[in-house]
Amino acid sequence: MEWKSINEYAKAYGLEGNLPDIFVSLAEGVYPPKLDSFLIAKELIRIVQEGHNVLDIGTGTGILAIVAATKGAAVVATDVHEASVKCARHNASLNSVELDGRVGNLFEPIRQGELFDIVVGNMTSLPTPRDEQHDEYTARTVDAGYDGRRYLDPLLDQVPGYLKEGGYFLTQHSNFANIEKTRNKLDELGFEVELRMYEYPAGKTSRQRIEYFLRHLPENCHPIKKEDGWYQKIAVFIARSSGGFSP
Ligand SMILES: C[S@@+](CC[C@H](N)C(=O)[O-])C[C@H]1O[C@@H](n2cnc3c(N)ncnc32)[C@H](O)[C@@H]1O
Repeated sequence: MEWKSINEYAKAYGLEGNLPDIFVSLAEGVYPPKLDSFLIAKELIRIVQEGHNVLDIGTGTGILAIVAATKGAAVVATDVHEASVKCARHNASLNSVELDGRVGNLFEPIRQGELFDIVVGNMTSLPTPRDEQHDEYTARTVDAGYDGRRYLDPLLDQVPGYLKEGGYFLTQHSNFANIEKTRNKLDELGFEVELRMYEYPAGKTSRQRIEYFLRHLPENCHPIKKEDGWYQKIAVFIARSSGGFSP
């Protein structure tokens, strides 16, 4: 399998050089490292410490899990897509680190009583028109629902039960999936929240769905029109549990 440095992938967004020299290979259907992966990786690198227990939900190539493992964390990496878990395991060995790869939906592969210092979940969150036809793989892993929150909402609802006191939850998504809604939910769940806000051109699939976004999503979720095209806001959520959660 061919592999390349994540800094090579990051060049497409001008973010190279900020990341450790981790190598990843891809397999069919596995989500390649993209802008969202790098924006979360930047925060994860800052927070993770040697000896931390880290859970990476929706690991894809394993990029975030491997970033944490190279800093000395013990990492569990899950994905609903079996080929992604295999790919993440392979990529971990390519970088001489270990990860515990598990296949399953969100927290299903996590055992009763397992608690983490950091849970990172970079979920698919692009609102998807209800009438779009998908193959079985896409329907299961990429279709984030009409409002983009099909995976995000259950992730937010369940994450407090898997964090140690003072543990961190990291996620990201664009304004298309409603940044305010996530912020409010995290506040209600008792997290202390820091936000990193960015503005980037809308990606290829988003550009194909501009009409849908404008007609069907609330105004705070609309794409932003600029002279050189359509833009999105991206929020990285760094949420710290104030403690006292039990699974
Ligand atoms: C946006 S990609 C992120 C991949 C990787 N973490 C990264 O940052 O590059 C989302 C990943 O979540 C996985 N996924 C989608 N639905 C899931 C679910 N219900 N449970 C676990 N993983 C899921 C997909 O297969 C995909 O690998």
